[in-house]
Amino acid sequence: MNKKITIVGAGNVGATLAQRLAEAELADIVLVDVPQTEGMPAGKALDIQQAGLIYGYDCRVRGSTDYDLSRDSDIVVITAGVPRKPGMSRDDLLSTNAKIVRAVTEQVVRTSPNAILLIVSNPLDAMCYVALQVSKFPKHRVIGMAGVLDSARMAAFVSEALNVSVENVQPMVLGGHGDTMVPIPRLTTVAGVPVTELMPKEKLDAIVQRTRDGGAEIVRLLKTGSAYYAPSASVAAMVESILKDKKKIMPCAVYLQGEYGISDVFAGVPVKLGSRGVEEIIPLELTGDEQSALKKSAESVRDLQETLKRMEVLK
Ligand code: NAI
Ligand code: 2OP
Repeated sequence: MNKKITIVGAGNVGATLAQRLAEAELADIVLVDVPQTEGMPAGKALDIQQAGLIYGYDCRVRGSTDYDLSRDSDIVVITAGVPRKPGMSRDDLLSTNAKIVRAVTEQVVRTSPNAILLIVSNPLDAMCYVALQVSKFPKHRVIGMAGVLDSARMAAFVSEALNVSVENVQPMVLGGHGDTMVPIPRLTTVAGVPVTELMPKEKLDAIVQRTRDGGAEIVRLLKTGSAYYAPSASVAAMVESILKDKKKIMPCAVYLQGEYGISDVFAGVPVKLGSRGVEEIIPLELTGDEQSALKKSAESVRDLQETLKRMEVLK
């Protein structure tokens, strides 16, 4: 029997992810959205299913506004929420999306109690916290997508600057998915050579800043929403590592309890992703500056978590 993945939120990220997962023939897919969207998730699912002959995939793609179709999913990806508009930070979405993620998580616990949760909704790290608190799932089954995307953006900028294949770039971005994220040039390599040896500091500093602003750059260009091609590709890579038990090491938002000297907060660090979800948090030797940047980033996530604790949404 095929594995089953539910994607909650059949918008830009969710529907594009469904298409990517179908084309990779990774699992049967269910798209779920709110009742007000009526036939939209079913329509998108049917459309993706009908490309099966052309692309050569056999998995089943269905859509609904009812969670019953998603029952007993192996993985549930939560992309439900509102995206950013120009001038908004990811944190501006806190209260609206926290209520949405709470409601979605309650439904997922009811229908897929053994699923691994992959969170996409923003502000990402705080939404992971909502999902963990509401689901009461073990922490290795609540994982946020951000580091894979932020690293991919850094890799794209490095590859462009050096005129080399992006496949030669091994990027490293840690921390929260926000303005304080921590791209680490010292641990970013190109065909094994540290990127710090391949370009001047000013150029690298500009790449670090452009990586931090990567989401906002696209919001400014699109004007009506945020990025979804690279985000959906990032989630698909995480899904593949889990379903095929590849044990790939990827930067993901996970609940830290002492690792990297950080406790009780979600932050992006390298983890091994396999069939059980987060199978190991990989320790890295960081310099003092890198460590304090990571701590600062985690503290900004903690501020959001504390705000959530004061709001009705987590009571
Ligand atoms: P979108 O607006 O295209 O789609 C969101 C969908 O969620 C809509 O179809 C909406 O009807 C649905 N939705 C809203 N409330 C719901 C509920 N209670 N239950 C089920 N579905 C519900 O937005 P897009 O571009 O797909 O982005 C989705 C979220 O992902 C946003 O919060 C965005 O900021 C975030 N995002 C995060 C990224 C990351 O790196 N973690 C990258 C890209 C987007
Ligand atoms: C991004 O980084 C909006 O968080 C989303 O593109």
